[in-house]
Amino acid sequence: MKDVLVTGGAGFIGSNFVHHLVAHTDAHVTVLDALTYAGDRRSLAGLPENRLAFVRGDIADSALVDDLVAGADTVVHFAAESHNDNSLAEPRPFIDTNVVGTFTLLEAARRHDRRFHHISTDEVYGDLALDDPERFTEATPYNPSSPYSSTKAASDLLVRAWVRSFGLRATLSNCSNNYGPRQHVEKFIPRQITNILRGIRPKLYGRGLNVRDWIHVDDHSSAVLAIVERGRVGETYLIGADGERSNADVLADILRLMGRPDDAFDFVTDRAGHDLRYAIDWSKLRDELGWEPARRDFDAGLAATIEWYRANEDWWAGSKEATEAFYRSVEERHER
Ligand code: NAD
Ligand code: DAU
Repeated sequence: MKDVLVTGGAGFIGSNFVHHLVAHTDAHVTVLDALTYAGDRRSLAGLPENRLAFVRGDIADSALVDDLVAGADTVVHFAAESHNDNSLAEPRPFIDTNVVGTFTLLEAARRHDRRFHHISTDEVYGDLALDDPERFTEATPYNPSSPYSSTKAASDLLVRAWVRSFGLRATLSNCSNNYGPRQHVEKFIPRQITNILRGIRPKLYGRGLNVRDWIHVDDHSSAVLAIVERGRVGETYLIGADGERSNADVLADILRLMGRPDDAFDFVTDRAGHDLRYAIDWSKLRDELGWEPARRDFDAGLAATIEWYRANEDWWAGSKEATEAFYRSVEERHER
């Protein structure tokens, strides 16, 4: 692994992975990112110039993608439209990026016979009942609920077909909910932290009973690197860190850590088709590759994340107003 092409490297997880790659390998990294509303060049600040090239462009641009894939030995594919609420309001960009964009990358990787790693989500498996003792495994049938998760499922199936039909040297990973610094303020944890910092009451969908399986973004990055370096071609690996918590519990933690009363939030209309619970069995990753999450103390990770948003208001302030305007328009549509 000498020249790695990272798509979506200006996003939340992609940028964390680029920092991780530069710190833990000697590879040269080229980032391909369209800098949509979710991408931020500043998330790559501080990296040595001789280790990083940045290209602004669309993963569905086949000429550009062909050129960049030809110049790399490994492609790690993070770029996506990633937010469920946006996919309910306007699904089209999810088809264009998540499906057509992934297809475009796969064709280039096939032409040039490049090692390919596809980043995906546990949401492709649908959801579990709150009292179900089971967790998702690599054998769980696909059953996506939202436009976002169905396009991610489609992209996973494309990767699997390219492995089987064309012998593409690809691996896949499906991870649970990430948290940590540099996550867009549209997502649950940063939205509530920045609401509190702005004097806006946090918003909990439905009754707050839905469960997510939280993992620190640093652990996602170390797992992806382990798979890229040592994973078996053709295999899927689930990534998680035993972090199941209800949304109400996470919000209670945020309120406590930020010194607010435990009832200083609003219940708002539930998300359409809202998945109830995600839970990951990551034993394959542990048993095959010896990977373990290093940041399992959720309280400590959450406190550090809150401090990051406190200290980096200039990073998120520009997105906050538009994000809250979007959420107000969703609420207004519900009220009509
Ligand atoms: P993000 O929305 O923060 O970042 C996405 C990045 O992709 C942005 O930098 C954006 O500019 C870029 N991008 C979007 N469309 C593009 C296009 N057409 N061409 C080039 N670049 C484009 O997303 P994230 O939360 O960092 O998620 C990254 C990946 O991880 C996604 O594939 C997502 O499905 C997956 N994932 C996310 C989570 C999570 O909790 N956030 C969990 C599991 C898997
Ligand atoms: O499971 C992995 C997935 O996790 C990734 O594939 C997605 O890219 C990522 O966005 C995330 O999806 P979720 O829909 O679970 O994340 P989100 O941060 O949008 O919401 C987390 C939970 O919090 C969910 O149950 C909805 C709820 N929620 C969200 C917002 C924005 C609220 O209660 N209030 C809110 O304001």
